Amino acid sequence: MDLGLTGKTVIVTGGASGIGQAIAAGFGGQGARVVVGDIKGAGDAAQALAAQGVDAIGVPLDVADDASIAAAVAGVIASHGAIDVLVNAAGLFRCPSLFDTTREDWAAIDAVNVSGLFMMLQAAARHMAERGSGAIVNIASVGGRRGDENAPVYCASKASVISITQSAALALVKKGVRVNAIAPGQIETPLWSALSRDMGARFGIDAAQFTAMVEGIIPAGRLGQPGDLVGTALFLASPMAGFLVGQTINVDGGVYLS
Ligand SMILES: NC(=O)c1ccc[n+]([C@@H]2O[C@H](COP(=O)([O-])OP(=O)(O)OC[C@H]3O[C@@H](n4cnc5c(N)ncnc54)[C@H](O)[C@@H]3O)[C@@H](O)[C@H]2O)c1
Repeated sequence: MDLGLTGKTVIVTGGASGIGQAIAAGFGGQGARVVVGDIKGAGDAAQALAAQGVDAIGVPLDVADDASIAAAVAGVIASHGAIDVLVNAAGLFRCPSLFDTTREDWAAIDAVNVSGLFMMLQAAARHMAERGSGAIVNIASVGGRRGDENAPVYCASKASVISITQSAALALVKKGVRVNAIAPGQIETPLWSALSRDMGARFGIDAAQFTAMVEGIIPAGRLGQPGDLVGTALFLASPMAGFLVGQTINVDGGVYLS
């Protein structure tokens, strides 16, 4: 099916791993021009896509650094002429308990998941609003739907992503720019490997046991795979979602129903 993404330029932050990597490949499969933006591995990830015939480049990008964001955005506009789509997938997970949480935990998570995502969105949106078109897809989390005693800072960061999505959508919709989000459930990625190890340790079990415990409460009966997010990301970025504004869609195997 032609989703109208052929030839469109899409930047995927966090595009060198996990969910971002799968979404970058999905856009490549639609004939989009893919820019992998990541703090590490962007070049290798882009090369892997190019080897499959995708028009892809890698850009070193630290969303926690305004100068890095400015350089990446200006560089892509110079090389590609425009940015049509931004997917904000870069993210970090930490799970200190309520009493163990430090200001450093807050700063580290905020720098990437909240203010990093926001400043990246702002930089791309400025350009998109000037052009009068664009689409932005933020990767939130079901952790933003409900607090969790085991990961208070991460959950707060992802609730912020849902809120930023709504505010940005309202600020930009009349300028031709749509902003929506995806709230993934538990997805098997490098982030999940670390999360299942650290959270399992809290319960006195190993990563495999923790994963099995979680699978037991997912109605679909399994973890998600990065590829499970691709269809929703492509749809939200496409003209087919032209009247979808400020929404966050759960893609979680049925954990949250709305
Ligand atoms: N895996 C899950 O279960 C899950 C569930 C819900 C939401 N999410 C969210 O999905 C997104 C992707 O997670 P993932 O599971 O694919 O993780 P991942 O660790 O596989 O990928 C995250 C990517 O972000 C990049 N990154 C980290 N800091 C960065 C920075 N400062 N600037 C640019 N890039 C940076 C990393 O290098 C990495 O390539 C994150 O926002 C995460 O919070 C993941």
